[in-house]
Amino acid sequence: MKPLSACDMNAVLGTAFIGRNVYYLDSVGSTQDSAKSFALSGAAEGTVVIAAQQTAGKGKRGAEWASPPGGLWLSVILYPEGGLNPAVLTLAGAVAAAGAIERAAGLKTSVRWPNDCYVNGRKAAGVIGEKSGRAVIIGIGVNLNVSMDDLPAGLRRTAASISVEKGHQIDENEFLRELLKEFESMYCAASGGDALPVISRLEKMYGIAGRSVCGFSGGRKVEGTVSGFSEDGSIIIRLDSGLQVSFASGEFTLEKEKIS
Ligand code: BTN
Repeated sequence: MKPLSACDMNAVLGTAFIGRNVYYLDSVGSTQDSAKSFALSGAAEGTVVIAAQQTAGKGKRGAEWASPPGGLWLSVILYPEGGLNPAVLTLAGAVAAAGAIERAAGLKTSVRWPNDCYVNGRKAAGVIGEKSGRAVIIGIGVNLNVSMDDLPAGLRRTAASISVEKGHQIDENEFLRELLKEFESMYCAASGGDALPVISRLEKMYGIAGRSVCGFSGGRKVEGTVSGFSEDGSIIIRLDSGLQVSFASGEFTLEKEKIS
């Protein structure tokens, strides 16, 4: 474990508090679990736990998350006030990851609401949010410089590695800076419990209102047009039948390339 000083991190990251304390671990089960322990022992808000690899990385709905060397596997410890919904923070993580992929690697992304980032139709990053006492732990996993051979065979057709898509290695520090700066700015803007700043950022990136989406919720296929988002981060879709429905969970693709 190598905790970096506040000075080191400020120089690298340019954030006010996210990443002020960073723990780099060589190998860990899951940075989510390590972050929960750090939070229990009083870790400051914004503490980031990064692992070079995870042996029991956690994905959404209890799935395993393959975390070989070369990826960016991190968890951020937050103590949100004002009832900020973890789902909104998870969405903020996905928006920040998409922004970092675009700025640090120059690749177009799609956000699959609420928490996945796709590049060239394959998943390049995922985010989970977990509550632990008064802490919310946001876990962000990015296949940054991952070799496809290091991913399980079953994932190679559906997962993307940013460096493979780009054709060269991506600077991890630059990526981290882009990711955490934007995440912090959305977190601060939303800290009163309002999802609007996160949604506005998503809207700015993808111009989603009025666009067609398709996806799944509760095992059912959903097709329609995005009407907007509610304060708790739910997506509101006008179904092709004309009915307007708010979905708190599911997976819907918002593709940037379709709007430009
Ligand atoms: C998903 O299923 O899309 C969410 C994946 C989240 C993976 C990240 S990697 C860092 C953090 N630690 C974990 O064990 N999971 C999250």
